[in-house]
Amino acid sequence: MVESLGVAVIGAGMAGKAHAAAYRAASAVYDPTLPPVRLVSIGDVNPTFGQLAARRFGYERHDATWQAIAEADDIDVVSVVIANSLHREVVEGLLAAGKHVLCEKPLSDSLEDARAMADAAGRARGLARIGLTFRRTPAIAAIRELINDGTLGRPLHFSGRYWTDYACSPQAPMSWRYQGGPGSGALADVGSHLAYVAEFLCGPTLSVSGGQFSTAITERHLPLGAVLGHDHGAVSDEVVPVANDDVAVFAAEYAQGTGSLQVSRIASGHPNTLTFEVFCEHGSATFDQRRPAEFGLYLNGDAPHDGTTNGFRQVLLAPGHPYYAGGLAMDAPSVGIGQNDAFVYQARAFLEEVAGQPEDTSLPRCATFDEGVHNMEILAAVTASAANDGGRVAVASTTPAPAAP
Ligand SMILES: NC(=O)c1ccc[n+]([C@@H]2O[C@H](COP(=O)([O-])OP(=O)(O)OC[C@H]3O[C@@H](n4cnc5c(N)ncnc54)[C@H](O)[C@@H]3O)[C@@H](O)[C@H]2O)c1
Repeated sequence: MVESLGVAVIGAGMAGKAHAAAYRAASAVYDPTLPPVRLVSIGDVNPTFGQLAARRFGYERHDATWQAIAEADDIDVVSVVIANSLHREVVEGLLAAGKHVLCEKPLSDSLEDARAMADAAGRARGLARIGLTFRRTPAIAAIRELINDGTLGRPLHFSGRYWTDYACSPQAPMSWRYQGGPGSGALADVGSHLAYVAEFLCGPTLSVSGGQFSTAITERHLPLGAVLGHDHGAVSDEVVPVANDDVAVFAAEYAQGTGSLQVSRIASGHPNTLTFEVFCEHGSATFDQRRPAEFGLYLNGDAPHDGTTNGFRQVLLAPGHPYYAGGLAMDAPSVGIGQNDAFVYQARAFLEEVAGQPEDTSLPRCATFDEGVHNMEILAAVTASAANDGGRVAVASTTPAPAAP
């Protein structure tokens, strides 16, 4: 076991702060098996953001370049939480310097770069993992367990949506999220999560069809200052074209069933609604990120024949569910759980793996870069389908999907 682990986070934006906070909390969940975690640096090209985040989350310093973090002897573990198009250069530089890297999803903005990153990961001394955070959502992991243990049994049909509304307003300023080719918009931003969750439950995507994109707001004003996450700051009069999708829909073929997936960044009234139903051999389950501490369960045969008390039951998360016992300071049933907790479990899992803790006494490992490439292969197939009037496109899977249920 290593003596201590020095941590840095590159990117002090919306998700960077979640990573910074998660490393801080990672030692305070579950049994104290981790070596001491030193919170060393927040790296951001904007020194004000870096400094503020370092102070807020208790990091020793801030750095303005990723190279400073790559060269630092006191840093072992680095989260890369910056625009997708910047992932490759920074991740490859960090891996070459021997760091353990946790990169945010999607792995990159192009499949070619993602594959190069997976190659670099294969040659690296350090670990390379990707932050597909929703696998850490306890209710989603619980539904997966019910599929795996046969309670729900074989998934037959997945219907999922990830609605966001951060781009509803024409006054939302231009940012990296609106730049890049077809498929780099809502599909890459939130579709990457939804496609991963669908596979987490249903197994590998074999093909996609019915790909369709639309862009409702075709130009946006340049911001007058720095834009973080989905913030709406002051904008200039100058407008530039939006290059990618506000809405993306597609159908998916799994080895054991079919899926219907829809994502949007202009879904008014839905800031962050990842929701799905999964219909299985022996029943169905539902999840809605707006109520993350519960899920719906219907088991065939539960309802009386006359149907008088028919319907889904509301399952409230409790210590018997994944991640729960010890994963919250007060881990009594129904105390509540949220998306930030998933970042804590992700950071904990990554630190456990870096520390060499055995897999059977650790949280499930983080997804590999190969899984990140596979995730992008699905997105690329959807983009090809959309370019081909919605035609069927096989998912060119050179790498594994998450272990099939
Ligand atoms: N897992 C999740 O739930 C989740 C949620 C949001 C975003 N993300 C992912 O996280 C990544 C970042 O998204 P975000 O919304 O936090 O972005 P953001 O725009 O809010 O923040 C990006 C930060 O990176 C900084 N930056 C820009 N170039 C840099 C460089 N070369 N070196 C260091 N810092 C640099 C910016 O100043 C800014 O502070 C993306 O890959 C996104 O897909 C994941």
